[in-house]
Amino acid sequence: MTKVISIINQKGGVGKTTSTVNLGYALASSGKKILVIDLDPQGNASTGLGIDIDKREKTIYEFLVNRNSDPNDFAINTLNENLDIICANVELSGFETEVASESKRAFYLKEVIQQIKQKSQYNQILIDCPPSLSLLTIMSLVASDSVIIPLQTEFFALEGVSQLIKTIERVKQSLNPNLIIQGVILTMFDKRNKLSGQVEEEARKYFGSKVYKTVIPRNVRISEAPSHGLPVILYDENSTGSVAYKELSNEILSQKDLDIEAA
Ligand SMILES: Nc1ncnc2c1ncn2[C@@H]1O[C@H](COP(=O)(O)OP(=O)(O)OP(=O)(O)O)[C@@H](O)[C@H]1O
Ligand SMILES: [Mg+2]
Repeated sequence: MTKVISIINQKGGVGKTTSTVNLGYALASSGKKILVIDLDPQGNASTGLGIDIDKREKTIYEFLVNRNSDPNDFAINTLNENLDIICANVELSGFETEVASESKRAFYLKEVIQQIKQKSQYNQILIDCPPSLSLLTIMSLVASDSVIIPLQTEFFALEGVSQLIKTIERVKQSLNPNLIIQGVILTMFDKRNKLSGQVEEEARKYFGSKVYKTVIPRNVRISEAPSHGLPVILYDENSTGSVAYKELSNEILSQKDLDIEAA
């Protein structure tokens, strides 16, 4: 059974891509077969996993347009034998307007993922969402079993969260009744900053046990790694960021379906 997970938050720069790339790599290292789908025209997940996106033609954009294509033309193996990625680049930014008049457009990524499931046996598909609640994000929610929400432990962290939850609820009611919130990741935690602790407290009050115990610290190695096209776990294995993402991946692996109540 392939689990499809959206890494989502419409707020920009909260750690969606960093979490997708590092969890993808950590889960793959634990022996799980992982596909990362880069669904952001910025293409940061692709670059972060060492792919030169300007040279890629077979991107998620083309797959969304030609939904009966062979997934093997799109998924490329990278950095670990268990880790594949379907890339994105700026071409994807025109998609929403191009399909604006098509009534089934919210289901296009779901169709693509069904096609992938027929051909490959991934344990998990992680979708790196763009910072918006646009069609791309809605398609991702429609195609997913669950969502993981990264929250930056800074002022305004919870701003916009109620809108995100409303969007998830709306998709649940009309397009994907089985969608659940799987977990919330606290990112860029700075233990010297009182605010980080306050935001953690607030988030745990709001989301309860959905907030992962493992908190991702602010760590300069995490921010350096993408410019080398590497997850931090490969860039600096012993850094605090690397250790945290490995721990988080173990926490996610130990999550039983029963622990994950409906959103
Ligand atoms: N724990 C961390 N410590 C230090 N820097 C971090 C950490 N997590 C992320 N960053 C840096 O913060 C920036 C934003 O992170 P990231 O790109 O993962 O966010 P995002 O939510 O995907 O952004 P966008 O909304 O633009 O897609 C990046 O430069 C990243 O390297
Ligand atoms: Mg991103």
